[in-house]
Amino acid sequence: METEHAHAAIEALLEERRTFSPSEDFRAGAAISDEEVYRRAEKDFERFWAELAGEFIGWFKEPTKTMDWKPPHATWFADGELNVAWNCLDKQVDAGRGGKVAYHWVGEPEGETRDLTYEELLREVSRLANGLRSLGVRKGDRVGIYMGMVPELPVAMLACARVGAAHVVVFGGFSAESLAERMRDTGAKVLITQDEGWRKGSKVPLKRNADDAADEAPDLERFVVLRRTGDDVPWTEGRDVWWDELVDEQSEECEAERMNAEDVLFLLHTSGTTAKPKGAQHTSAGYLLHVSVTHKWIFDIHEDTVWWCAADVGWITGHSYIVYGPLNNGTTSVLYEGDPAYPDWDRHWQIVERYGVSAYYTAPTLIRSFVKMGPEYPARHDLSSLRLLGTVGEPINPEAWVWYWKYIGQERCPIVDTWWQTETGGILITPLPGVTTLKPGSATVPFPGIKPEILDEQGNPVPQGEGGFLTISRPWPGMFRTLWEDDERYVQTYFSKYGPETYFTGDGAKQDSDGYFWLMGRIDDVINVAGHRLSTTEIESTLVEHAAVAEAAATGAADPDRGQRIVCFVLLKGGHEPSDELAEELRQFVAQKIGKIARPAAVLFGDDLPKTRSGKIMRRLLKDIAEGNELGDTTTLRDATVVDDLKQKADAALGRR
Ligand code: WTA
Repeated sequence: METEHAHAAIEALLEERRTFSPSEDFRAGAAISDEEVYRRAEKDFERFWAELAGEFIGWFKEPTKTMDWKPPHATWFADGELNVAWNCLDKQVDAGRGGKVAYHWVGEPEGETRDLTYEELLREVSRLANGLRSLGVRKGDRVGIYMGMVPELPVAMLACARVGAAHVVVFGGFSAESLAERMRDTGAKVLITQDEGWRKGSKVPLKRNADDAADEAPDLERFVVLRRTGDDVPWTEGRDVWWDELVDEQSEECEAERMNAEDVLFLLHTSGTTAKPKGAQHTSAGYLLHVSVTHKWIFDIHEDTVWWCAADVGWITGHSYIVYGPLNNGTTSVLYEGDPAYPDWDRHWQIVERYGVSAYYTAPTLIRSFVKMGPEYPARHDLSSLRLLGTVGEPINPEAWVWYWKYIGQERCPIVDTWWQTETGGILITPLPGVTTLKPGSATVPFPGIKPEILDEQGNPVPQGEGGFLTISRPWPGMFRTLWEDDERYVQTYFSKYGPETYFTGDGAKQDSDGYFWLMGRIDDVINVAGHRLSTTEIESTLVEHAAVAEAAATGAADPDRGQRIVCFVLLKGGHEPSDELAEELRQFVAQKIGKIARPAAVLFGDDLPKTRSGKIMRRLLKDIAEGNELGDTTTLRDATVVDDLKQKADAALGRR
């Protein structure tokens, strides 16, 4: 049994000990400042959510039901009626926020900005919603959206919500092929797109890609095309209509469709590696409630907060925390169109200064880029408006956390490390910034009412401090309800490993003696060396602690003797040069910090890492490189040249030539 267990456990050898408690000042002004909410939620979690639903949702018909759980299917507020766009817009105008800015939009080309108030947003949404109806879009239909980060992107989503059509947003960095696949999967008849987008000073041919996708997605009947750059684009008479011409003739009044709480609000595909993407199905009331409460409490949103979630609306982070959560809370947000390095690496800090941003939320991968570029970029700007920082998307290395704390938050702003997934809809594991003592690298504790458990291979809870599989053993309002037209895959992927009551996240995690959760990456990111499962995150965090290292990725390569050996890819900070000595020093460094078992077999220096357009490291490719295999599919890479360079280096270093 002992050895069984050792196999099942992910070894958690690295411990980070610094802690950061909320300052008196922050606590005094915080939306949530004591632990009572945790007790209230634990006492009766259904009632807890039901009470919040009364506070956060404007109903057309109040629900009498709360949760119905027929594992693995849940419904929430199933007999309630509402319209999500009405909540995000009309409700705000009725509450006196008509003149309040909903979005400060910043275009990528410098000097181009636009502010949209709640009233203006309502008008634009209503006109487009009428336009969509005139094209035949009805409640229950699916509408594709393939755009850049322009204000019309949230407008398009809300217009769909207003008429009761499910939107299927496809990230504007995806190819025609990915777009076509998602349109085919969902049977969308209308696609909303734009002539071109801006990215890193270049134009992205969105309309042209959409045209290519249409060849492979025969159900697409109509295109609505926004003019953004104004360049000429190919045009199909009878199918394509300009956005401005469509809405010009439309009334500014549009009745919001009465929707059932469980009607589909949107479908969003999760990034698969090789398999077909999965269309997570999110519904109306439970989702809206979950993203609004988490937005307000975790990011400590007040009436005067200027909020910036620097993700792309094309991902779940943007859906939940750029569009639905903030709008339903009547918040003012920043929406930035372009690249964080355009025209230079201080663009974000320039925007923070200009709008007096008070809460800023981004991904660790971007923070590591900031670390690499150095603190002189944030130092160029006045960041004194910031009072809270957040991260999402992957585990954050404690060193990057501390850098973020010091150079962006100026040792004043709590950092909320929020764990969640496309499937979960909203945040599940997170600090509450006025309550929780922070530990860099840990997403800390479950949100009130959420019940995560870490299990071993057999389904037993792992002893404290040991790694295992993260599961959620109780439903929550924002959870996806199924996969679009593939319930079997829903059950198979998420509710079969531990049975229908237990949601399987696919992530590894451990809990420390304070009950804090430490995420250890996807389970397939685990490296097995001589029967010891090692977390790639731990190895990477250790490397990043070294003074010379800006970013690191660890992968397992097949090894005839030890199962796998560890190969690390390292990007150095400015002022450090790759050398055999440094590689050796880093190998020793890891061995010393984590244990000999974790000593990398090789450390390779590169200029960049293979990343997807959303910034996730493509571990599958690193593995191919480390093992000297033919490279798998590289079409979703942000920059495909990166892998060739690394492959050459790896082949040389590992003696394959
Ligand atoms: C990872 C993004 C550690 C995790 C919202 C999860 C995290 C996957 C964190 C979901 C975090 C997200 N700490 N890991 N704070 N947040 N992840 O669907 O592996 O794009 O399963 O949703 O990102 O990615 P997705």
